[in-house]
Amino acid sequence: MTPPRSYQISILRGESLRDCPLAEEILALDRRNMEATLRSAGRPFPEQRRRQTLFHPSNRIIIARAGGAVAGYVDYLEYSSHPGDLYLSSVQIAAAHRGGTLFRALLAQLLEDLEAREFTALRTHVQGSNAAMLAIARKLGFTLRERPDHPGTLDASLGRERLRSSRLARRLRRA
Ligand SMILES: CC(C)(COP(=O)(O)OP(=O)(O)OC[C@H]1O[C@@H](n2cnc3c(N)ncnc32)[C@H](O)[C@@H]1OP(=O)(O)O)[C@@H](O)C(=O)NCCC(=O)NCCS
Repeated sequence: MTPPRSYQISILRGESLRDCPLAEEILALDRRNMEATLRSAGRPFPEQRRRQTLFHPSNRIIIARAGGAVAGYVDYLEYSSHPGDLYLSSVQIAAAHRGGTLFRALLAQLLEDLEAREFTALRTHVQGSNAAMLAIARKLGFTLRERPDHPGTLDASLGRERLRSSRLARRLRRA
């Protein structure tokens, strides 16, 4: 399939998705995308934890739709174990929409949304077996560290100023 060139982007509070069919569509995409990576790390898809994060009162989700279906999304929330930081919960693009314009469109929208936020660093976790995401995190300037308590998973963090001034952020602001 040739990916459509235009996407309908909306930004929602995760809480507003409770009991909504859209939440199931989002979780289904997450599961479809992540199951193989998690399986290779010997872990099941963390269904309950993912639901808690998605519906968390501080969660914001940027969703791109094409022809009515979810083509991709990114969501983030306040990081309770690192007060003052934000946690990038998930970034997912349906297979048919990868390698096109969508990842950059979501990233540009995320950076714009983060402009209005006070935070110290953006953090996330990346599976060591997820080569694509590791390469993307490095390109964005994230610092990656092994997690001694969770072998196979890395802590990724990127300070707010470094994120704002990165070459990629400047390029996306101009686009
Ligand atoms: C991760 C994901 C969102 C990226 O979207 P995408 O459309 O595949 O990304 P793009 O093709 O636009 O590539 C983005 C950048 O990463 C680079 N990249 C992508 N895959 C790569 C790989 N395997 N190795 C090295 N670089 C890679 C691209 O070269 C591009 O960099 P550039 O803009 O400097 O050229 C998408 O692949 C996805 O949903 N994957 C499954 C879910 C997942 O792993 N999510 C992250 C964990 S929560």
